[in-house]
Amino acid sequence: MMIFFKYKTFSIISVSFFCLAISNCSFVSNANSIGQVDTTLKAIAPFPVGGAVKINLLRNDRLYRNLLIKEYNSLTAENAMKFVALHPGKDSYRWEDADYIVNFALDNNIRVHGHTLIWPRVNPPWVTTFKGSRNDWKRMLKTHIQTVVKHFKGKVKSWDVVNEAFEDNGTYKDNVWLRNIGKDYIELCFKYAREADPNVLLFYNDYGHEYSTKKLQAVLNLVKDFKSRNIPIDGLGLQMHTVVRVTDLKIKNAINAVASTGLLIHLSELEVAINYQQPKSFIPDKTLLDRQASKYASIVKAYLSIPKKQQYGITTWNVGDKDSWKNSKGRNHDHPLLFDYQYQPKPAYKAFKLAAEGKQ
Ligand code: XIL
Repeated sequence: MMIFFKYKTFSIISVSFFCLAISNCSFVSNANSIGQVDTTLKAIAPFPVGGAVKINLLRNDRLYRNLLIKEYNSLTAENAMKFVALHPGKDSYRWEDADYIVNFALDNNIRVHGHTLIWPRVNPPWVTTFKGSRNDWKRMLKTHIQTVVKHFKGKVKSWDVVNEAFEDNGTYKDNVWLRNIGKDYIELCFKYAREADPNVLLFYNDYGHEYSTKKLQAVLNLVKDFKSRNIPIDGLGLQMHTVVRVTDLKIKNAINAVASTGLLIHLSELEVAINYQQPKSFIPDKTLLDRQASKYASIVKAYLSIPKKQQYGITTWNVGDKDSWKNSKGRNHDHPLLFDYQYQPKPAYKAFKLAAEGKQ
């Protein structure tokens, strides 16, 4: 008996010491120095977590690159796969940057979401000045889409086929494709993409579902129409460039409404801006950072309430606050992301993870 007791005491003590000594053993590895659980976004979230990637940072900033590898299992090129970047001249394509991003992702087991085959508002100058018949425009559209989709076939899992085709009032946005081909330019893009790769997932991507019921309805009508005529579409992207003051209810309603289509749902460009009234440059206080954190949490919660098989993932538009397009020239200085200017996790990061775990 005494021997058994001694043995048991010894075992408990030795196991404890053992685990302290190798704090990498699996059941203690998540505790940091002050005993908090410390895991990554991708380890915690039951859906893929993505970031929009800046090519220059990926090439040159080791901290940024390592953070992507550590935290994310999906990525979207912020600009490198847009028409204007890939196809700058009628007969010239530039693949270097996009290929670099795709190879980085594949080497690190990260999914690539392609953005975007057509962004009707932003075209290279040679497209804007293109002269030709309706058929010439269709041919040009087809060539672009199929060359790009085929180039990344088997590597890019999904594409935003068309980005931002509707106005907030639900009408078609004026653009060269609409003027020269007609509103069926949208379905043609989806058909061309499907022809080029039968396996890649095809998304329609837009912003504003959470504040414009008319735009939301236009998107739902598009899906209904596509389904009734067997036009291929697999998913909807909700950019979700949002701000702290947008109500949770509006966001939840938008997410539920698009999920009612049964398609895959991607929150594709999420950020929660906090500087919509402030002077140009500011440091957010704790109250504001906490409000931002709870907005992130409620977005994640709303997303988790849609069927799991429709959860294509949540992608934030950039990684650290300093990289946000919100901080580009002419805009208010902002702090809209999960990581701060030094790539340190913010309260929003913690809230995102807790919500993703169902703990908030
Ligand atoms: C933005 C990029 O972040 C900027 O760097 C670029 O100058 C303009 O485009 N909706 C989209 C994205 O679908 O492609 C946009 O990205 C942001 C709004």
